[in-house]
Amino acid sequence: MARYLFFFFFSFSFSFYPMVLSQLSSNQKTTMINLSMSLNVTGISWDVNKEPNPCLWKGVNCKPPSNSSVIQISLSGVSLSSSDFLPLVCQIESLQSLDVSHNCLSKIPSGFLSDCGKLDGLKLLNLSYNNLEGSLPVFVGFAGLEFLDLSHNRLSGAIDLELDGLVGLRSLNLSLNNFTGSVPTRLGKSKVLKELQLSMNKFHGIIPVDIVGYRNLTLIDFSSNNISGSVPDRIGELSKLEVLILSSNSLSGIPQSLSNITSLTRFAANSNKFNGAIPAGITKHLRNLDLSYNSLSGSISSDLLSPLNLQTVDLSNNGLSGSIPTALSPSLVRLRLGSNSLDYVIPTAAIATLQNLTYLELENNALTGLISTELGFCKTLMLLNLAGNQLSGSLPMELGKLSHLQVLKLELNLLTGQIPIQIAQMSKLSILNISWNSLNGSIPPLVASLKNLINMNLQGNNLSGSIPENIGSMTSLMELQLGENHLSGDIPSMPTTLQIALNLSSNLFEGHIPVTLARLTGLEILDLSNNKFSGEIPAFFRQLGALTQLLLSNNQLSGEIPEFDSRVIVNISGNEGLTNTSHTEPPTTSPKSEKAKMSCAEIILLAVVAAVFAVGGCTILAISLLGYKLVKKRN
Ligand SMILES: *[C@@H]1O[C@H](CO)[C@@H](O)[C@H](O)[C@H]1NC(C)=O
Ligand SMILES: *[C@@H]1O[C@H](CO)[C@@H](O)[C@H](O)[C@H]1NC(C)=O
Ligand SMILES: *[C@@H]1O[C@H](CO)[C@@H](O)[C@H](O)[C@H]1NC(C)=O
Ligand SMILES: *[C@@H]1O[C@H](CO)[C@@H](O)[C@H](O)[C@H]1NC(C)=O
Ligand SMILES: *[C@@H]1O[C@H](CO)[C@@H](O)[C@H](O)[C@H]1NC(C)=O
Ligand SMILES: *[C@@H]1O[C@H](CO)[C@@H](O)[C@H](O)[C@H]1NC(C)=O
Ligand SMILES: *[C@@H]1O[C@H](CO)[C@@H](O)[C@H](O)[C@H]1NC(C)=O
Ligand SMILES: *[C@@H]1O[C@H](CO)[C@@H](O)[C@H](O)[C@H]1NC(C)=O
Ligand SMILES: *[C@@H]1O[C@H](CO)[C@@H](O)[C@H](O)[C@H]1NC(C)=O
Ligand SMILES: *[C@@H]1O[C@H](CO)[C@@H](O)[C@H](O)[C@H]1NC(C)=O
Ligand SMILES: *[C@@H]1O[C@H](CO)[C@@H](O)[C@H](O)[C@H]1NC(C)=O
Ligand SMILES: *[C@@H]1O[C@H](CO)[C@@H](O)[C@H](O)[C@H]1NC(C)=O
Repeated sequence: MARYLFFFFFSFSFSFYPMVLSQLSSNQKTTMINLSMSLNVTGISWDVNKEPNPCLWKGVNCKPPSNSSVIQISLSGVSLSSSDFLPLVCQIESLQSLDVSHNCLSKIPSGFLSDCGKLDGLKLLNLSYNNLEGSLPVFVGFAGLEFLDLSHNRLSGAIDLELDGLVGLRSLNLSLNNFTGSVPTRLGKSKVLKELQLSMNKFHGIIPVDIVGYRNLTLIDFSSNNISGSVPDRIGELSKLEVLILSSNSLSGIPQSLSNITSLTRFAANSNKFNGAIPAGITKHLRNLDLSYNSLSGSISSDLLSPLNLQTVDLSNNGLSGSIPTALSPSLVRLRLGSNSLDYVIPTAAIATLQNLTYLELENNALTGLISTELGFCKTLMLLNLAGNQLSGSLPMELGKLSHLQVLKLELNLLTGQIPIQIAQMSKLSILNISWNSLNGSIPPLVASLKNLINMNLQGNNLSGSIPENIGSMTSLMELQLGENHLSGDIPSMPTTLQIALNLSSNLFEGHIPVTLARLTGLEILDLSNNKFSGEIPAFFRQLGALTQLLLSNNQLSGEIPEFDSRVIVNISGNEGLTNTSHTEPPTTSPKSEKAKMSCAEIILLAVVAAVFAVGGCTILAISLLGYKLVKKRN
């Protein structure tokens, strides 16, 4: 009997329960239908004739398990341009979350603020990625609001008490607007704020010390504003802070107290005006530190890089001096110390023990000594940049063990000896720059097996012999710089992928300009100057549609000068046998403005590099490469 009853009850409840309780109140249903009609967009299909239950409309969520009231409405990215529907939403008293991000809304109607302000259950309001204009409205009510996202709009003006009534505010995002005035500090009377994003506005003045009243802050992002002065020392009182981002402002003075925050894992304050020594102990608890592009000086204290959690450190572009500490965190993934005045040797023995080191950038310092064979133990390296130092000795063959390496930059050092054939084992290599050293011997034919190489720069060495015959098989190569060596012999067929430049200048090449160059239809710069090429300037050069610079000066060319399109800069000076025909202008040197522009091919290269490092979690690198490139070009 009990069993029978149970069965009865069971089946009864299952057939009855959904029919009755899964209904929205008729009031809410009407509101939802009214709402669907007031939304004049094609992006959503809220059609009561097709789906009578609004809880099943896309972007609508109802309260589980019964679905008896609407709690969440998401109208993200549906091309809404009129805000007229917003007050209607406030009739849904049970609403907890409203997301209208990624639309074209230009205002928040006052009816919305007054009506929705009464909904105590409303926790999240997402108006990010719209076209909201004017000053921040005053939020009255909204007693339960915890998440307010107004980022990526065009809001402007200063902020005073507009948000102070939001007693439950835990996460505020005002980034990417046009706000001015000082950093707001009245952000909810009860001070429960945890996340504060103010980046990319025009806030100025100092960081107000009142900010430390928000004891629960875990995230502060003030980057890309115009904030100046010292970071208040009392910031060390924010004992729950995890992320502090102050990048791209005009700040000076890093407080020692940061080392007191045991929860702080990320501190980024690059591109400011910090000067003097780096405060001791600042990395004690950190995972990520970025102080690049400041004016820091003094030496790197011996324990700065050693804390166990430290994964990425960027101190590049400062005025740091002294030697690189030998005590290094075993967790290091990225170490960037480029463009300082560091000297003495690279602590390779310590570096070689790092199991996860992926990016090592020590360029543009005054480092001396040899490139140690121990570097071959850094098997995880993807990028090695030691360019612009005073490193001497030969390239160790152990470099070949770096099988993950994608970028090897050793240019502008004092390296001698031959290019080891083991270099060909770095099968992932996409950039090889060993220009401006004193390497000798010939180019090993095995380099042609580097099928991912995009950019090969061997310029300015003492390389001799001929160019490997199989070079044409390097099917990724976009730039080949072989200028200022002692190369001679036949010029083999070049890869047709060459685009950025082919530079064979200042070598010992002679004979006719090879016809195989006619295949390089994507090439932008061809430099054959300062050799002993003879014969006529081939007519096929005129068919190289991408060419912007053709440098043929100081050879032994003769005959008539073909007529070139005006966009091609041609330099033919120093060729005695050439007869000057009517149209061709006298040899020009490239105007500065042309040089400052990035060629299409270079942009492609940078995009490729960016993609490579995005995968490795390091877009910063590509961006800085880009910056580096632009800076170099400007000079
Ligand atoms: C829905 O719209 C009708 C007609 O515009 C109006 O009379 C009614 O009050 C509205 N109901 C709700 C709940 O918004
Ligand atoms: C709906 O949008 C179209 C253009 O997208 C516009 O012409 C029309 O006036 C709008 N209707 C209402 C009721 O807003
Ligand atoms: C409530 O709606 C969800 C879909 O949003 C559905 O999976 C669930 O079965 C519904 N619950 C009831 C009791 O109708
Ligand atoms: C608001 O929406 C955007 C885009 O849809 C999203 O990235 C962001 O995380 C949302 N904000 C909050 C606080 O949920
Ligand atoms: C910010 O304001 C300036 C003028 O003060 C204007 O030129 C700029 O377009 C505005 N930016 C945005 C994102 O609205
Ligand atoms: C705004 O900041 C909050 C808090 O950090 C974050 O959750 C949200 O995703 C951000 N919004 C966007 C559009 O990134
Ligand atoms: C911080 O958060 C805790 C709970 O997480 C809360 O009790 C407290 O009131 C909050 N505010 C302050 C100022 O500590
Ligand atoms: C930043 O602030 C300084 C004064 O602190 C002012 O001179 C400068 O014009 C401001 N820059 C911008 C971009 O607003
Ligand atoms: C760090 O905290 C301790 C104990 O709270 C305090 O005595 C010390 O002054 C703090 N140091 C700094 C630099 O704020
Ligand atoms: C290296 O990275 C791996 C995977 O991310 C991690 O499990 C390991 O703990 C790291 N090793 C060190 C020494 O940090
Ligand atoms: C290689 O180094 C030279 C010399 O500094 C520089 O001009 C060139 O841009 C570098 N190329 C790459 C791809 O790093
Ligand atoms: C390369 O230079 C070294 C000295 O740095 C010299 O001993 C060696 O003979 C040279 N090799 C060649 C092939 O010129």
